[in-house]
Amino acid sequence: MTTPLSPNAVVAVVGTGAMGAGIAQVAAAAGHTVRLLDAREGAAAQAVDGIRAQFARLVDKGRMDAAAAAAAGARLVAATDLAELADAALVVEAIVERLDAKQQLFAALEGVIADDCILGTNTSSISITAIGAALRLPERLAGLHFFNPAPLMALVEVVSGLATGQNVTDTLFATAKAWGKVPVQAKSTPGFIVNRVARPYYAEALRLAQEGAADYATIDAVLREAGGFRMGPFQLMDLIGHDVNFAVTKSVWSAFYHDPRFLPSLIQQELVDGGFLGKKSGRGFYDYSEGAAVAQPASAAPQALPGKLAICGDSAAARALAQRLQLAGTPFETTDSADGRIAVAGDTVLYVTDGRSATRRASDLGIAKLVLVDLALDYAQASRIAIAAAAQCAPAGVDAATALLQAAGLQVARFADVPGLAVMRTVAMLANEAADAVNQGVCNAAAADAAMKLGVNYPQGPLAWADALGVATVRTVLAHLGEAYGEDRYRISPLLQQACYSGRKIHD
Ligand SMILES: NC(=O)c1ccc[n+]([C@@H]2O[C@H](COP(=O)([O-])OP(=O)(O)OC[C@H]3O[C@@H](n4cnc5c(N)ncnc54)[C@H](O)[C@@H]3O)[C@@H](O)[C@H]2O)c1
Repeated sequence: MTTPLSPNAVVAVVGTGAMGAGIAQVAAAAGHTVRLLDAREGAAAQAVDGIRAQFARLVDKGRMDAAAAAAAGARLVAATDLAELADAALVVEAIVERLDAKQQLFAALEGVIADDCILGTNTSSISITAIGAALRLPERLAGLHFFNPAPLMALVEVVSGLATGQNVTDTLFATAKAWGKVPVQAKSTPGFIVNRVARPYYAEALRLAQEGAADYATIDAVLREAGGFRMGPFQLMDLIGHDVNFAVTKSVWSAFYHDPRFLPSLIQQELVDGGFLGKKSGRGFYDYSEGAAVAQPASAAPQALPGKLAICGDSAAARALAQRLQLAGTPFETTDSADGRIAVAGDTVLYVTDGRSATRRASDLGIAKLVLVDLALDYAQASRIAIAAAAQCAPAGVDAATALLQAAGLQVARFADVPGLAVMRTVAMLANEAADAVNQGVCNAAAADAAMKLGVNYPQGPLAWADALGVATVRTVLAHLGEAYGEDRYRISPLLQQACYSGRKIHD
């Protein structure tokens, strides 16, 4: 096993903005002397003061020992000249996100540092190979991609470019671990792991909105309360800022030669054009101005239960509904499920979405009164669920299905009849993208899942989620989405196909 850098080794951080300051804090807390440098006069000294204040806050909260905080604070040294970084064993670069600026900085650094000094770049989107191409010793450069805020986010992507030495990534991996982080290894490809695999979380929601599936607050609430995601996609894009989020989407899309899988959304382009950048500008999908009403999700009005309720089969959804109805004291029958139905309310049949629209499924099955239910991370715990009714289903039929779900304690979000609803379609696309990253050797399945759980707080790694759902189910959903839209965007990763036909789980 490769050993981490010794705590006695000097670490330098160049670029002491939001990320650089956070990284310097982590390195100083781990015992390193940290030299900070920034092109803006006074910025490094300001960052040192800011980090010391952070340490003091941690002491106040009882999360750091006062002596340790004082010692860590004393290990921070503001530099004013590149030459002062000469004794660094590792330099982490967190300057402006521009290839020419990063190349220039590293070339200048190589004139100052020792040949065995390791270089890490915190770039989110620039190729490590391209940055390394300007170096005299490109094998010493790797991506060391922290997430914001660096002191709090556990994930670090250790990214190797074409020339990166294995000993360099191994040392960075071990060092990130020693700093209390969870490192994952990735190959330098657009978006690395997190910024690539996360794209569908935004893209599918934007598409749902564009198709009028439901309003923003309702889609957000469904992703949170049924999907188990900490933030809904619109809420999250507003927080990240549309300029930033749109730029990442566009950069990944361009880097993949305009693969339709990453196609940016016109809705977001409009927001950027209009200066509706999200929370920071006071308006994005939501209005953040003082006194503005907080947008509420739409929930179906309470409906009267029909005479007959049945729970069918023993799928996860059926079992949870049965349990919830039982708890609520609502009587129901149980029946087998030959065609995958999960319940019958009156004479309306409920199924979990398989990526077909309700209208198509009703037509395929010859059942007019058909309502589709979205995926939930855990049907026993969800507080809200999205449904879509077939065009052939009369309103009373939709009301009956709604009543059953309400009796089980769920808020019901009635969506327009979009294929795959919200959570199912999002999870299928996240799993597909993660599978493709694994298939293309960007990372392994464990790294993909860890990255998404730790880098963007997903409730479950997308590949473990696909395994739990059944890879065949995910494949079917994607195939149906592909048929519905006739777009390459929903093409199925070869890895999912392989897992599906071999009957194996991805994590087997
Ligand atoms: N903000 C994020 O959420 C985030 C997350 C992960 C990675 N990153 C990446 O980290 C890097 C820094 O991002 P940030 O958000 O901290 O930016 P920032 O604007 O907060 O800080 C950048 C700092 O670099 C300094 N700088 C610019 N050019 C310089 C140069 N040539 N030499 C020395 N200093 C220079 C600036 O004065 C500024 O203080 C970028 O590559 C970005 O893509 C950002």
